[in-house]
Amino acid sequence: MRKILVTGSNGQLGLHFKNIPNSSLFSMIYTHHSPFSGFINMDISNEEQVRSVLQKFNPDIIINTAAITDVDLCQKNKLLARRVNVDGLKNLIKHSKLKAKIIQISSDYIFDGFSGFYSENSTPNPLSYYGKTKLEAENILISSNKNFIIIRVSTLFSNISINFYNWVLSNLSKNNHIKVAKDQISNPCYALNLINFIYDLILLDFNGKINFGSKNSISKLNFANDIADENNLDKHLIEEVKIKDINFEADRPLNSSFDLSLCSDLNINLFNIKDTLKYMANI
Ligand SMILES: NC(=O)c1ccc[n+]([C@@H]2O[C@H](COP(=O)([O-])OP(=O)(O)OC[C@H]3O[C@@H](n4cnc5c(N)ncnc54)[C@H](OP(=O)(O)O)[C@@H]3O)[C@@H](O)[C@H]2O)c1
Repeated sequence: MRKILVTGSNGQLGLHFKNIPNSSLFSMIYTHHSPFSGFINMDISNEEQVRSVLQKFNPDIIINTAAITDVDLCQKNKLLARRVNVDGLKNLIKHSKLKAKIIQISSDYIFDGFSGFYSENSTPNPLSYYGKTKLEAENILISSNKNFIIIRVSTLFSNISINFYNWVLSNLSKNNHIKVAKDQISNPCYALNLINFIYDLILLDFNGKINFGSKNSISKLNFANDIADENNLDKHLIEEVKIKDINFEADRPLNSSFDLSLCSDLNINLFNIKDTLKYMANI
């Protein structure tokens, strides 16, 4: 039975790995950044800890969900961003067995968002330090001697953890007014769909880069309106703004939508946002 080790298992994506039943084909090892009862502690930026955990469990596949994902924090604390998002992956590459496959979760923020509809072969040009670290990590993995999958996703959301969906839901539920950009467009990615996609790619023995997300691209504003609609919340609390009107520390790509034709070529089922939101409102 192949052993899969997951990093960052207390994060949004990592938690979902623990929550959904996995194939009996794999034995799962969940590692956590902060000590957490019953789970293995592994700070990916701590080389000695990575060496010791990987030597002990000798995984066939590593799914690296661990990262500093707060884009503005990365802009302010570049050392931390680099230590985790770049050096952490280097440690996993260095201390995993030669034949191990590394699955790296990357981001649409590697693109500048000037044109949109980015394919796996489009030229990256990150605007933020977070995007720069995600791109550097991709390049390190590509030039390593590992089997790898790089999955680029955007606006990861689910009903747990901190994310755009929960931010909209929690504010509108409290009748708080929110400002949402009408000019930021992407293909948001539902965390549970991503988990199933990762298992599909493993079973297909896929290697290389691949984009993933909702079938349709959507602006943050329309996404927020759809969240309000599906949850019977007051849309009038959502103020339409341009991204430049929001005082973010780091620049974001305006249109980072994806060309998802590689998923179609692999017969991967993609879901549109409305159907996903309907499903989420009923679970
Ligand atoms: N969220 C998005 O919108 C989005 C969009 C595109 C791509 N992605 C990528 O998708 C992946 C998963 O994102 P997510 O939403 O699940 O992020 P998340 O909820 O922020 O989880 C990240 C996890 O990484 C852990 N972590 C931080 N520093 C670590 C370290 N030094 N060693 C080990 N673990 C560490 C965190 O643990 P602590 O909380 O204990 O520090 C947390 O559990 C990331 O690679 C991210 O870059 C996310």
